[in-house]
Amino acid sequence: MILRLNSASRVISSGGKKIALLDNINLAVKEGEFISLMGPSGSGKSTLLNCIGMLDSFTAGNYTFLDEEVHTLKEKQRSKLYKEYIGFVFQAYHLIDELNVYENIETPLLYKNVKSSERKALVADMLDRFNIVGKKDLFPAQLSGGQQQLVGIARALISKPKLILADEPTGNLNSKQSTEIMELFSELNKDGVTIIQATHSEKNSSYGSRIINLLDGRIVSE
Ligand SMILES: Nc1ncnc2c1ncn2[C@@H]1O[C@H](COP(=O)(O)OP(=O)(O)OP(=O)(O)O)[C@@H](O)[C@H]1O
Ligand SMILES: [Mg+2]
Repeated sequence: MILRLNSASRVISSGGKKIALLDNINLAVKEGEFISLMGPSGSGKSTLLNCIGMLDSFTAGNYTFLDEEVHTLKEKQRSKLYKEYIGFVFQAYHLIDELNVYENIETPLLYKNVKSSERKALVADMLDRFNIVGKKDLFPAQLSGGQQQLVGIARALISKPKLILADEPTGNLNSKQSTEIMELFSELNKDGVTIIQATHSEKNSSYGSRIINLLDGRIVSE
C-alpha cells in the first residue's frame, strides 16, 4: 500500500460556519495503481490531491503514506517526504516566474541534492522528451499555456517520483499533446509509478485502472 486514508476530512471555517471540503474519505491506494478522480466542479478533487500531496492538511482522520503517519509529522519532515516521493502536476502551472524553463525543471533535483553533472543530463533528457529544447532559456511568461503545462509536467517527472498527483494534467493542451501526456503517464505507470489524476475527461480517465467519483467532498462511488 502506498497510501491509506481513514475517515480523512478537511473542514474549514468560513463566515462563522464550518464547511466540510472533504468528508470522511476512506481510500487505500496500492503501489502501481492509476486512479482517476472524477466529479463535478467543486466536488473536492483538487482539495483531495492537495491534501494527499501534503500541500494542504486534513483536519481530521488518519493519513498514512509509505508507512509514515503523515498527520503526526512536523512540517519539515512532511516536506522532506513529499519532495522525495511525490511529483505534482498542477491545474494552474505554478512555475517560478523568475526562473527560466531549464531552471524550473531543475528545481526538484536541487531539493534532492543531485550533483551538477547528473542534473544537466536529466534536464537535457526532459527538454528532449518534451520537445522544448529550443525554449530552455525562456521564462514562463514567454510561453503559451500548453508549453507552460509541459514544463510543469517535465518538472514533476524529473525526480522520478513514486507517486504522481495530476490535477487536470491536460487542461491546457491540444488533443495531440493530451494524448502524448496520457500515453507517457501510461508508460510510467507500467514501470510501477502510482498515479492519481483529477479529470473531467472520460477519455483521460480511461487510461486509469480505477475511477473514484466525488460529490460534495465525499466518495460516492467507484
Ligand atoms: N480556502 C478555501 N476556502 C473556502 N472554500 C474553499 C477553499 N478551498 C476550496 N474551497 C471550496 O472547496 C470546494 C472544492 O473545491 P475543489 O477545488 O477541490 O473542487 P474541484 O473538484 O477540484 O473542482 P474543479 O473541477 O472545478 O477543479 C469548492 O466548493 C471550493 O469553493
Ligand atoms: Mg480542481
